[in-house]
Amino acid sequence: MVIESLFYFSLAVLQALEDGLKKADADPSVKAVMICGENGKFSAGADIRGFSAPQSHPGIGLAPIVSLIESSEKPVVAAIEGVALGGGLEVALGCHYRVAHVKARMGLPEVTIGLLPGAEGTQRLPRLIGVPAALDMITTGKHIPATEALKLGLVDEIAEENTIEAAIRLANKVIGQPLAPRRLSLKPVPTLPNMEAFLREALVKVKKQARGCLAPELCVQAVRAASERPFAEGLRRERELFRLLLSSGQARALQYAFFAERAVRRWATPAGASWSSANAQPVRSAAVIGLGTMGRGIVTSLVKANIPVVALEQDLENLKKGRKAVMLLLEREAMKMEGGAQRLDFHNPARLQFTVDFDLLRDVDLVIEAVFENMALKKEIFHKLSKICKPGALLCTNTSALNINEIASATSRPQQVIGTHFFSPAHVMRLLEIIYGSHTSPSAIATAMQLAKALNKIGVVVGNCFGFVGNRMMFPYVQQAVFLLEEGSRPEAVDEVLEDFGFKIGPFRMSDLAGLDVGWRSRQGQGLTGPSLPAGTPARQRHGQRYSPLPDLLCEHGRFGQKTGHGWYLYEKAGGRTATPDPWLHNFLARYRDTHGIKARAIDQEEILERCLFALINEGFAILAEGIASGPEHLDVIYINGYGWPRHRGGPMFYASTVGLPRVLAKLEQYSEVHPDVPGLRPNAFLRKLVAVGSPPLQEWMSYVSWQSPKL
Ligand code: NAI
Repeated sequence: MVIESLFYFSLAVLQALEDGLKKADADPSVKAVMICGENGKFSAGADIRGFSAPQSHPGIGLAPIVSLIESSEKPVVAAIEGVALGGGLEVALGCHYRVAHVKARMGLPEVTIGLLPGAEGTQRLPRLIGVPAALDMITTGKHIPATEALKLGLVDEIAEENTIEAAIRLANKVIGQPLAPRRLSLKPVPTLPNMEAFLREALVKVKKQARGCLAPELCVQAVRAASERPFAEGLRRERELFRLLLSSGQARALQYAFFAERAVRRWATPAGASWSSANAQPVRSAAVIGLGTMGRGIVTSLVKANIPVVALEQDLENLKKGRKAVMLLLEREAMKMEGGAQRLDFHNPARLQFTVDFDLLRDVDLVIEAVFENMALKKEIFHKLSKICKPGALLCTNTSALNINEIASATSRPQQVIGTHFFSPAHVMRLLEIIYGSHTSPSAIATAMQLAKALNKIGVVVGNCFGFVGNRMMFPYVQQAVFLLEEGSRPEAVDEVLEDFGFKIGPFRMSDLAGLDVGWRSRQGQGLTGPSLPAGTPARQRHGQRYSPLPDLLCEHGRFGQKTGHGWYLYEKAGGRTATPDPWLHNFLARYRDTHGIKARAIDQEEILERCLFALINEGFAILAEGIASGPEHLDVIYINGYGWPRHRGGPMFYASTVGLPRVLAKLEQYSEVHPDVPGLRPNAFLRKLVAVGSPPLQEWMSYVSWQSPKL
């Protein structure tokens, strides 16, 4: 008998499965059962759109069905085509045999949405493939190909062609064979000589990887239960841990992040351009100008996406350096891929060409400029591009903060100029901030979004302002961190609080990594420090606002961060990565406070966290009010994918909604009163407005913005 199940489990699908199984058991003419999916796809498990109400969580209803399958007196074979994910794979684990199509993929991705496989998967999988492999799948949520599943023993057979026929053949073969050895609940978990040490290390590893994130940790606990307790007790533990996760708030945040990443695909601008009406131009070839830190990663990313690239540098010496760096990156990437160098084909000049000749950019569909952050230089380059490139070519800049309109003004086609802000390392980081200028055409935006997709990145469309969204929100955050040092804190204390919150690295470690000289040059350019600063400017004030010269002073001492072996921390050598607190810096801070008559005070963790995060969030409200982003989800996706914001906290704006807007407002008011010369702490009018109207849910915020946003 064949039971066909729908792609996503719902209560109705579960009922149908149960009815089918009972019918098969009761019918003496049925000798074996095969479960397959509809239209060539086994099942992606529960539809997480229904996860908002914990009681109706489909995972909870699925477990008895999996047990029912397993206890069937007739052999049940799963025919896995397409994907078997989450509950889908748990159903397959309940079956006595599994046949998968060679192209099928399997996985238990629950951990990525803050849960664990709650339909007995944490107990059956280790019994089938052992603790190390099961832990790897359950704590990472990764999808594995059928060939790997076969090696692990997760499936019994692979079908090159017709999976259903192969499954039926297998079912016929096993009719009459004893089923007990095939019932995973009856099998012991394969032992390891060092199980206890292995589990302990696994726990340490997941805790380190996702600081503060509960799901991977609880997944380890569930698998531990499988290895230590009888099946029924393990199940009780699985259920207990599942409920804990469901009610933790982290699952809600992770699911919000999941949907936010989909929501940002539907972009819109205040002028009325939107994803639904704009058409992307094909990108069949590209060029990258400048092969420094960013350019080399961007070239790598394009080659990986199979887009032929022309890579251009300013002179032969830099070209040689850039080529070497790109080749090294590509070789490393090729090693990670199936098919390797052959698949990437980067030694073929038709796929990747290095040059110093702008003429070779004549025919490319898209150019990405990644030269020094200098307006005059960028304008010169865009002027040249405007003359050389074919009429339809999209001209992109990787600037991190400069005005897109000004860059576009150097061309005769500002409608084709757009910001594509990659993050470092560009071939790894998933975020692509896409910045439209006043003249950028909807088609140019759609093309940049299409490019993001081709590069396997998440494109987020934002408006043009200094620092765009990500860096603009980062400025007040870093500024607060530095002010906290002035007032009495230390870099390691501030970093620790933010790392405990879940950031991958705190603001000072981050500055040391990026290089303090980058910001220094930018501030010199803005006339905030350096020779162009008017004589008599107070040391700690600019334009009537509080300013901290601390980062400038560090640079004047040659402390640029990791690259010079010291910055906010001390490193083992120039280019070293291990940060240790630096007594020199502590003395320096003490002398600085003495010079400026600042009395150091003890600053508690709460103040550190709130001043840094709420200043960042406050800027987020300003961005929303100005129409620079279409919604809070956009800000959150940018922070999760570009700035190491802990995903399990759902992004800064989501976090603000969980803290409660009245509390964020009250705290900002309190800090602003103590620091009236710090505009970043002054509550934004949009935040005030939202609180005044009763703090509506995040999804409704944009309906309170004064400018009319086009309906998404
Ligand atoms: P970089 O200094 O590492 O590299 C710049 C490259 O441009 C150098 O190799 C230089 O030789 C080349 N170049 C300069 N003038 C040129 C010309 N006329 N023609 C061809 N090539 C030329 O700089 P980086 O860090 O790669 O930054 C590039 C751009 O990306 C900047 O606008 C920066 O603000 C932005 N950005 C940087 C990030 C970072 O983390 N480094 C992150 C995101 C954006």
